[in-house]
Amino acid sequence: MAIPENNNTFSAGRVALVTGGASGIGAAVAERLVARGGHVVIADIDTDRGNAVAARIGAVFVRTDVGSLADNEAAVEAAVSRFGRLDVVHLNAGTTGRTAIGDGFDLDSYRNIVNVNLDSVVFGVQAALPHVRRGQGPGGQGSRERGSIVVTASAAALRPSIEVLYSATKSAVIGLVRSLAPVLRRDGVSIDALCPGLVDTPLIAGRRSAIAEAGIPVASAEQVADAFETVLGDERTGQAWLVMADRPVAPFPFAELPVPGAEKLINADQ
Ligand SMILES: NC(=O)c1ccc[n+]([C@@H]2O[C@H](COP(=O)([O-])OP(=O)(O)OC[C@H]3O[C@@H](n4cnc5c(N)ncnc54)[C@H](O)[C@@H]3O)[C@@H](O)[C@H]2O)c1
Repeated sequence: MAIPENNNTFSAGRVALVTGGASGIGAAVAERLVARGGHVVIADIDTDRGNAVAARIGAVFVRTDVGSLADNEAAVEAAVSRFGRLDVVHLNAGTTGRTAIGDGFDLDSYRNIVNVNLDSVVFGVQAALPHVRRGQGPGGQGSRERGSIVVTASAAALRPSIEVLYSATKSAVIGLVRSLAPVLRRDGVSIDALCPGLVDTPLIAGRRSAIAEAGIPVASAEQVADAFETVLGDERTGQAWLVMADRPVAPFPFAELPVPGAEKLINADQ
């Protein structure tokens, strides 16, 4: 597959971990990073598809349940022991699940969506941090390129959505990213969210005809991989990048909320 001209956002030899890399967006990002000369570990719960994608693109597959801290740690260890370092982490695995409150509420489904979409990001960051830190972590000594964490959230978190609980988990992820960014910046690590609108992956398979009938633009997974590279090459951190088929990729323009004295309190807390 032809890939866009190299914009030097991901240099050859860098090591990346991609969760949910057995399908859709994660598979497209993994393929792109391998095409750029990177070493990629795919972490996914789907062993058959994970192994197949890894074999096709030249990556390594590690069976991982992202809702488990131990599995996240094992995936990170697999990357570091195989390739000696970790530079880029894409915390991308996610699920829509049943999402109703009121009639149709199901406690197990709720716990599952929070586990797969939110716990996974907390656990993924926790597991990766010792290795993506620059200047002090085991993987970071002497590196001048920053470590990068990119999380797949959703545009459904930036506007009201019929996917109520899904939207809530993705909103939480964006809050986490925005609050963590200033903390991680001191360690030479960026963290940003990708917020795609609809993307043509198995996640939306059951709704394709309804989406087409409604005339809603659908992006390709490769367009999200393009956006991923844009984020890697951007100097900012803590952004929620809107990725929609019908407009240029750009950070979502949150309103400023100045609070007198807040800076002093944050600095005193650290
Ligand atoms: N497709 C869309 O329209 C769309 C829009 C916005 C955001 N997203 C988000 O993009 C991300 C990727 O989704 P996709 O569209 O590529 O869907 P997908 O179904 O093609 O891929 C999701 C992958 O996550 C894996 N996964 C699910 N639960 C897991 C677990 N517990 N542990 C490890 N892996 C697990 C699946 O096996 C699958 O390979 C998700 O976070 C999703 O919420 C998708």
